Amino acid sequence: MGELKQYKRADVASRNGQNNNPVWIIYKDSVYDVTSYVSQHPGGDVILEEAGKDATKAFDDVGHSSDARTILDKYKIGEIVEEEKLYDASGKKKKRVIAAQPDTETRSCLNKCTCGLLG
Ligand code: HEM
Repeated sequence: MGELKQYKRADVASRNGQNNNPVWIIYKDSVYDVTSYVSQHPGGDVILEEAGKDATKAFDDVGHSSDARTILDKYKIGEIVEEEKLYDASGKKKKRVIAAQPDTETRSCLNKCTCGLLG
């Protein structure tokens, strides 16, 4: 039992099913090699459109069953490196970290009042 293999999004991008490359997809920061599943997919070749990409949205938009998720699990080969993850440990989408900004709210409010008074 080793640690899960870590991949960068760029590593996955080259496994796009073209030129005999395998078909890897990303689903919620996990990496799956679904090469052998493509021909069994009830939804057909659409899977290939997501090859090498983050298929999270496409997968969820279809409203796949929990069976589909169980199948997906079987093909997991690793996960996205920490710094490129989009979800936190609890599976929630990470908020973009915005550098702390000075509180401009009070000032602009003050400006409005002052201008209001002057104008
Ligand atoms: C890569 C892992 C995937 C797995 C394991 C998977 C699995 C399945 C399974 C088991 C079904 C049958 C219905 C169900 O149980 O929900 C299904 C249907 C379907 N899938 Fe996927 N799927 C995958 C990816 C995708 C992606 C990326 C797309 C879209 C781009 C997609 C589009 C569809 C569509 C449109 C159907 C409906 C087919 C129909 O009912 O005629 N699937 N998939």
